[in-house]
Amino acid sequence: MQTSQPADPATRQLTFGDVAIVYDDRVLTPRPWTAAQSAWAAEAAAEAPSGPILELCSGVGHIGLLAMKSTGRRGVLVDIDPVACDFSRGNIAVAGLSEMVEVRQRPVLECLELGESFPLVVADPPWVPSHDIGRFPDDPELAIDGGDDGLALARDCVRTIDRCLHPDGAAVVQLGTVAQADDLGDWMADEGFELSTTEVRTFGGSGVLMLLRRTA
Ligand SMILES: C[S@@+](CC[C@H](N)C(=O)[O-])C[C@H]1O[C@@H](n2cnc3c(N)ncnc32)[C@H](O)[C@@H]1O
Repeated sequence: MQTSQPADPATRQLTFGDVAIVYDDRVLTPRPWTAAQSAWAAEAAAEAPSGPILELCSGVGHIGLLAMKSTGRRGVLVDIDPVACDFSRGNIAVAGLSEMVEVRQRPVLECLELGESFPLVVADPPWVPSHDIGRFPDDPELAIDGGDDGLALARDCVRTIDRCLHPDGAAVVQLGTVAQADDLGDWMADEGFELSTTEVRTFGGSGVLMLLRRTA
């Protein structure tokens, strides 16, 4: 991933995979390792039914856009932050994907249209416990604060995934630690969701990805 400085000094630009991404300090800076989440979504796409990709907590859209561009699938990006959504729209246009990708500035729990089904979902919720966000002074609170145990938004993502995931689909969810992935898996079982973790991949101290599929 290469970074460069565009004309407006307040904005920055980088290349994420082969997608040009513009952002600034009001949003979370795209992290290079998260291209692995796009790659895992593309890998899962090879076995998934046809249909669009849903990205929850998309920020400026890089993870979902790279997955959509590499698979040729249409998609929907969801984020509650209007600044992140504005950057997403610009990044979609530069990628030439305006006809293929929709941005919804909505909370995760209110992002779906009636009866929607997605064969692939990507989710990158805030996962830092509220008492720990001071460790990341450069990151916007909205992008990192995951509530008391760091999993409040991850649980909202699971609720939405449960409502829209195709029976033969897959969801790639990002969290901070293996312990969080285990806790989320336990919570899904306790709550009776027909979703379970089929694989977890770790990326040093950077983060964790978990693959969810329907169990029933
Ligand atoms: C960890 S950041 C991930 C952003 C992006 N995927 C990235 O890698 O930089 C979490 C994102 O969730 C968004 N967010 C926080 N609460 C939300 C909610 N209730 N509904 C939708 N998005 C939310 C934030 O605005 C932020 O962009």
